[in-house]
Amino acid sequence: MFTRKEFLQRSALATAGFSLLEFMQPLEAAAFKEQLNRVSLLEPGAASEDEDFWNFIREQYTVSPNIINLNNGGVSPQPKPVQDAHIRFYQYCNEAPSYYMWRILDQGREPLRAKLAELAGCSVEEIAINRNTTEGLNTIIFGLNLKAGDEVVLSKYDYPNMMNAWKQREKRDGIKLNWVDFDLPVESDDVFVRKFSEAITDKTKIVHITHMLNWTGQLLPARKIADLAHKRGCEVIVDASHSFAHIDYKLSDLDCDYYATSLHKWLCAPFGTGFMYIKKEKIKNVWALLSAPVPDADNIGKFESIGTRSFAAEMAIGNAIDFQYLVGNKRKEDRLRFLKNYWCNKALKIPKFKLNTSLKDNYSCAIANFGIEGWKPEEVDTKLFEMKKIHCTTVNHEKIHGVRITPHVYTSLRDLDRLVEGIAEIAAMEPPAKK
Ligand SMILES: Cc1ncc(COP(=O)(O)O)c(C=O)c1O
Repeated sequence: MFTRKEFLQRSALATAGFSLLEFMQPLEAAAFKEQLNRVSLLEPGAASEDEDFWNFIREQYTVSPNIINLNNGGVSPQPKPVQDAHIRFYQYCNEAPSYYMWRILDQGREPLRAKLAELAGCSVEEIAINRNTTEGLNTIIFGLNLKAGDEVVLSKYDYPNMMNAWKQREKRDGIKLNWVDFDLPVESDDVFVRKFSEAITDKTKIVHITHMLNWTGQLLPARKIADLAHKRGCEVIVDASHSFAHIDYKLSDLDCDYYATSLHKWLCAPFGTGFMYIKKEKIKNVWALLSAPVPDADNIGKFESIGTRSFAAEMAIGNAIDFQYLVGNKRKEDRLRFLKNYWCNKALKIPKFKLNTSLKDNYSCAIANFGIEGWKPEEVDTKLFEMKKIHCTTVNHEKIHGVRITPHVYTSLRDLDRLVEGIAEIAAMEPPAKK
């Protein structure tokens, strides 16, 4: 535990976020280091099946021992050290809010931006810290200079908040939306590239890509679509709500112009934290959504003029980044994919089970969506909770109807065995009579 003096020294001076290990009890930190040293020596990929290591990671969470949460795609829990940091920052803020928030904790803003930029793979001048993907992408969608007749290409499987923002611009400004449709799952980059290509015309200004679809976990070849869009003279927006801190990549790998994500999903940062990215030379093209002194400035800071928000939550993002590095970007991606494959491969042996997600590495990671013949998604969801206390969610959107399962790094194989057991028991039952 830090003394108040140490806390303030660190807040005022270092403020790049505390090292996570320092936030742990010494014994726990030593055990963590030992585990890390051990998994670092394993062959690439082998760490994803090292249950000792993942049990250790599981112990860092405070998840319910009785309810199995398989809807981490909605929002994810924070590991204990992130919760502790958040609570401690919060308590300091409450001692003298304007002093601790604006004079002490706020000194951590630039170091935090640098840490986020390093994790994301971009410059500190290109990142604005905000509350979530919706805020980031709505800022971009409403801030772009588009006029009547300009066209935007997007897909029927984008996230509703973004589709609605575009529809509002269509209604208000007379822009035209060209919708791409797919038959999911897609297991070919060429199919995606062709579909986007067919929707782009010489009036298209923007191509909107959801990197990983929330409905089924489908991963899109964002870079290939971005290259195509750039070649045709369009700018590219990426919704990375589900890919950031889930798949191991850097922003430079995507080469998009605009991007936003939520940090309360895969990074396990406090609820209501996110960031947006805009390529340096494009910042001046996007108007601030909320009042800023110079709304068309070429400074990313204009997007942080969002009024009073939780500094405690923001500062604890630094601790979530530390945790991400301890788990390891690639180790995490491999583990998440392994967990999805683990339960899906078992469930595929169950008669009447239908998987709506590809098992090919390039097209999915942790998220999968399934159905059981004769059963509505809601009926399966209810039964899984009644019988096994498994919490998940359902999807009924366009051509996708199914139950979505999203494990996270703390999910055990035993939890997933229970899921498969539940699916098998439901599939063997008589489906409820349909009206
Ligand atoms: C693809 C996608 N984009 C955006 C969002 C919105 O995230 P938030 O509610 O954190 O803004 C979600 C949420 O699930 C999502 O799945």
